[in-house]
Amino acid sequence: MKQNEIDAILNVHRLAFGPEEGEETAQLAKDLLGHPDVLSFSVERDGQIAGNVLFMPFEFVDHPGVACQLLAPCGVLPEYQGQGVGRELMQTSIAHLTAIGTDAVFVLGVPTFYPRYGFAPTDKQTPYPDLLTLPQSWMALELVTGTVAPLSGKTLAIPQFMQPQFWDTSMYG
Ligand SMILES: CC(C)(COP(=O)(O)OP(=O)(O)OC[C@H]1O[C@@H](n2cnc3c(N)ncnc32)[C@H](O)[C@@H]1OP(=O)(O)O)[C@@H](O)C(=O)NCCC(=O)NCCS
Repeated sequence: MKQNEIDAILNVHRLAFGPEEGEETAQLAKDLLGHPDVLSFSVERDGQIAGNVLFMPFEFVDHPGVACQLLAPCGVLPEYQGQGVGRELMQTSIAHLTAIGTDAVFVLGVPTFYPRYGFAPTDKQTPYPDLLTLPQSWMALELVTGTVAPLSGKTLAIPQFMQPQFWDTSMYG
């Protein structure tokens, strides 16, 4: 990926997540983009990147054959929010993940946004189960029927996302 594309993606997340969370989210996106297995999807408007979503491998330690992805972060430039960019990002990325054989996608996020795309609250563990104070914000989307129900036990994200602050929902309200 070219540096100007990386810069545009970081800018999307910096502005989408606002003054309180933007810098941290842009730094996270930078770290993730440096990982060879992270998948990046962008949507353009008016010749510039208006939205971006990243996915990283996510592992159930006792189920190594199941191909799971974790979604984070998803952001749209403030001036393009509410105009279908987020919907396009979700639909395009889910179609691609399905095509490459992903079994399931997990996300810790807004319980009003992701269910529009098939995500539903899940009782599977996050890597830091004690920090999940809002269980409805931990959601799963099953892409291959029957793959999620058997999953159980300890989970791991890639090192860039194995930080307690990314799994602590107590600040959501
Ligand atoms: C959440 C976000 C990615 C949505 O992108 P968007 O381009 O504004 O969304 P769209 O215009 O494509 O709207 C898609 C649907 O989601 C709804 N929606 C948009 N923002 C939403 C939000 N913050 N919460 C819940 N629903 C939302 C819309 O009403 C729309 O529903 P509809 O298709 O049934 O009418 C974007 O607003 C954003 O970047 N917000 C700040 C960062 C953020 O909160 N990211 C998600 C963190 S988990």
